[in-house]
Amino acid sequence: MTNLPGGTWTMGDLTVTRFGYGAMQLAGPWVMGPPADHDGALAVLRAVVDLGITHIDTADAYGPEITNRLIREALAPYPDELHIVTKVGANRDAQGGWPPAREPHALREAVHANLRNLGLDVLDLVNLRLGNAEGPVPGSLAPAFETLVELQQQGLIRHLGVSNATSEQVAEAQAIAPIVCVQNQYNLAHREDDALIDALAGQGVAYVPFFPLGGFTPLQSDALSAVATRLGATPKAVALAWLLQRSPNLLLIPGTSSAGHLRENVAGAALELAAEDLAQLDAIGR
Ligand SMILES: NC(=O)c1ccc[n+]([C@@H]2O[C@H](COP(=O)([O-])OP(=O)(O)OC[C@H]3O[C@@H](n4cnc5c(N)ncnc54)[C@H](OP(=O)(O)O)[C@@H]3O)[C@@H](O)[C@H]2O)c1
Repeated sequence: MTNLPGGTWTMGDLTVTRFGYGAMQLAGPWVMGPPADHDGALAVLRAVVDLGITHIDTADAYGPEITNRLIREALAPYPDELHIVTKVGANRDAQGGWPPAREPHALREAVHANLRNLGLDVLDLVNLRLGNAEGPVPGSLAPAFETLVELQQQGLIRHLGVSNATSEQVAEAQAIAPIVCVQNQYNLAHREDDALIDALAGQGVAYVPFFPLGGFTPLQSDALSAVATRLGATPKAVALAWLLQRSPNLLLIPGTSSAGHLRENVAGAALELAAEDLAQLDAIGR
C-alpha cells in the first residue's frame, strides 16, 4: 500500500512504488565527482525513503562510485521494502564521457563494484545499458546479456533488465532470459518508444523512462506551458502526471539533488489530467 501517486507495480518479485527516484543528479556536475553539499545529498536520499518511495535507480558509473556510496551511507541497513536498481555496461573516462564496457570481464567487475559500493550481497535488479550517449545502437546484445544471466545464476543478481535498447534488442534479451523492465529515454517530447511501451504493458514488463523531465535539457513546449497554466500547475508536474497516466507499467525515476524539488515532484505527479489536457499534450511529441 502506498499514498504515492500511481500506486505500485511488481517487477518479478519486487513490488515498488511507481513513483521512484533517479539518483544520478546526486553526484557532482555532469555526474562526475562528489556533490557540492554532501549532507544535502544524504538528506535527499533519506527524504526519498521517508516519503515511502521504494525504487531508487542508480549506477556505479555515477560519480563514478560516488552515488552508490552516498546511497549506502544514507540508507544502509536498507529497509526491506526498498529496491535499488542499478545498471552496468558503461564506464566513465577522464573527460566525463560514458565509454561502453560490455566485455564479460568488465560486466563482472561492474556487478562486483555495485555490490561493494552499495554494501549488498545480491543486487535486486541490474539493467544492461546498451548503445551510447546519443541513444540506442542496433546490434546483438547476446554475449553481454549472457554474462549477466551467468551472474544471476550465481545468485548475485535477482532480476535483469535492459536499457537504451532497441525493440529488437529487447526481444533478443527476452529470447535468452526473462527481463522485468526496459529503461529507455522517453518523455512528452521523446515518443519513439510508444509502441514498445504498449507491447511491454501487454507482457507485464515495466517501462522506466529516463530523462522524464528532459534530463540535462529541461522540457519546454508552448502546449505544455498552456496546460500547466490552465491547471495552475508547473510544467514539471504536468510532465510527470502525463507519464503516470500514459500506461500502468510506466515507472517514474525523476532525478533531483533537492529535497524540496523531490517533494514538489511527488505532489505534482498526483495531478489528474482530463481528456482535453491529454489530447493537447499528446500532440507535443507526434
Ligand atoms: N539508463 C540510462 O542510460 C540513463 C540515462 C540517464 C539517466 N538515467 C536515470 O534516469 C534518472 C532520471 O534522469 P535525470 O535525472 O537525468 O533527468 P530528469 O529526471 O529528466 O531531470 C532532472 C533534472 O530536473 C531538475 N528538476 C527535477 N525536479 C525539479 C523541480 N521540481 N524543479 C526544478 N528542477 C527540477 C533537476 O535539477 P535539481 O537537481 O536542481 O532538482 C535535474 O537537473 C537519472 O537520475 C538516472 O537514474 C538513466
